[in-house]
Amino acid sequence: VVTSGTTHEPIDPVRYIANRSSGRQGHAIAAAAAALGAEVVLVSGPVSIPDPAGVTVRHVETAVEMLAAVEAALPADVGIFTAAVADWRVAGEASQKMKKTGAAPKLALVENPDILATVAKRAVDRPRLVVGFAAETENVVAYAKAKRQRKGCDWIIANDVSHATGIMGGDNNTVHVVTADTVEDWPDLPKTEVAARLVARIARLFQEDRP
Ligand code: C5P
Repeated sequence: VVTSGTTHEPIDPVRYIANRSSGRQGHAIAAAAAALGAEVVLVSGPVSIPDPAGVTVRHVETAVEMLAAVEAALPADVGIFTAAVADWRVAGEASQKMKKTGAAPKLALVENPDILATVAKRAVDRPRLVVGFAAETENVVAYAKAKRQRKGCDWIIANDVSHATGIMGGDNNTVHVVTADTVEDWPDLPKTEVAARLVARIARLFQEDRP
């Protein structure tokens, strides 16, 4: 199971909160896993790139819908949570388009469910390997190690977005793979190559562990 893209959190029927995630890294991971023979469910927020070939795609809009679609796709051997999920949604979204009369509206926000942490901490049907992502601008590896523990996942793929124009939406990614006891610094690579290496590394893990 792979999540990808942004989420859209509605304000009213025509407006929403979102972010700049293109879905390119998550879609590349889903495609690479399928190319290696995995049965893949890709849960994608709104993106402008095509569905990858050979993958079952569940299209969702909001974080709440994304969590439900992920849970419906379990059990799975591996969960890879690449989506840039909106941290907050609007409390009490308006059922009609908000009018531009009077004072500017104030949006009350409520926290969205953390899909990665929810799945990583499941008592039943937790995937054997749960992988999260972390975009940081400083102390990248230290924050990633802390995030790995806090979220309860097995690996964190951390990227330094401090000097990057365009990691979100760009072609390349420079990542550090943080596991329970190792940190691997990967070179700057196309997102498709990050995806290929990541799924190859996961396949190796499952091969080594085969009884
Ligand atoms: O806490 P932060 O947003 O930095 O964590 C990033 C990781 O958590 C990513 O793997 C992202 O897909 C996941 N996440 C999630 N649900 C959220 C927020 C983040 O699955 N609501």
